[in-house]
Amino acid sequence: MTNIIAKFYLLYFQDLRHMKILFRVFLALFAMSLASSAFSKQESFKALSNRVFDLAQKQYIAMSESVKDSGRFPRSIKDGKLETSDRGWWCSGFFPGSLWYIYEYGKDESVKNLALLFTKKLEPLSFANTPIDHDIGFQINCSYGNAYRLTKDKALLPIMLASAEKLSKRFSPKVGAIKSWNWKSGYPVIIDNMMNLELLCKASKISSNKAYLDVAKAHADTTMENHFRPDGSSFHLVLYDENSGAVLRRQTWQGLSDASAWARGQAWGLYGYVMMYRETEVCAYLRQAEKIAKFILEHKNLPADKVPLWDFDAPKDGLRDASAAAIIASALIDLSQLTKDRKLSKLCLQTAETQLRTLSSDAYLAKPGTNCNFILKHSVGSLPHKSEVDVPLSYADYYFLEALLKFNRLGIY
Ligand code: GLY
Repeated sequence: MTNIIAKFYLLYFQDLRHMKILFRVFLALFAMSLASSAFSKQESFKALSNRVFDLAQKQYIAMSESVKDSGRFPRSIKDGKLETSDRGWWCSGFFPGSLWYIYEYGKDESVKNLALLFTKKLEPLSFANTPIDHDIGFQINCSYGNAYRLTKDKALLPIMLASAEKLSKRFSPKVGAIKSWNWKSGYPVIIDNMMNLELLCKASKISSNKAYLDVAKAHADTTMENHFRPDGSSFHLVLYDENSGAVLRRQTWQGLSDASAWARGQAWGLYGYVMMYRETEVCAYLRQAEKIAKFILEHKNLPADKVPLWDFDAPKDGLRDASAAAIIASALIDLSQLTKDRKLSKLCLQTAETQLRTLSSDAYLAKPGTNCNFILKHSVGSLPHKSEVDVPLSYADYYFLEALLKFNRLGIY
């Protein structure tokens, strides 16, 4: 016996090299078994979605109760209390929109009733004699757009059409874009405005009036021409001369500097061009979306958990913006299905999944009954204005729920 062991030893362990190889094989097997047990412990996407939507339903019903009779809409948290807005604020459509998404997932009739209640509170925005915010596209598409998608109630359509009509009146053929704010001089157009085009595209389909689609395409073309840098990032604001249509200057409003890449601006741009390609099948919009996606996905400052800093050029220990992550996730899921670039498609999906898992973790997801009943923590409204810094924001919740629904619809898990 001793002889056999001695022979075995001489055969396999006589030089150190063999021992090292054996040790490495052992280490690799150990690491693989650890990785596979960690993988099998990862929460399934279905379980994650059930957990988040269950929380969302409880939080949003409680929030509805607190504002139902006030004529106001949840917006954020200020000084530790729920901050609300009137219906004229650009974010008023996100709360009913989130209620529609919660209804879409859970099919609870009481949530549907709340979604309808808060949606209808926005009807006056469509009246010709009420002031218009250039973000009427956000306000009406997130509320009425989802209401119509889920109920097919034709009585909702005149409000969408009247709102699209109001929005299209802010279009200047000279500039080739819809005006953002009413500045005393100049014609400002922000990248965020790409998001308002979805209402125009839908209105065009509903009414067969091509004029709305033409406005949307012209705005997207002008923005593509003037807002983007060679690396695919965008300026926040382009100021035009409204008489000549010439570009006067390019600057930021909510970003770190004129030359920086404000994270939510990149998110709006990405979402906007993916949506415009989906609605129009104009290939230039897909190419633009791919370029923006590559800027984001390959950026050296995009953290491993894929929740961006509030500005891609902010210091690495700066604040993160959950709202930008949620918007990007939603857009990346769509892009993964539209792009013909298989490598990019895979990366889009992997990144969106990481974003959704990160946002569903304790670091970002509120505990029940906390966070003034918002779902997500840690968004940034406008850091340069010291407004809504590291707080929940109604649109972070909205795009997070939207992205979860889209991911589930893919049926991967
Ligand atoms: N202006 C819209 C935003 O803050 O993203």
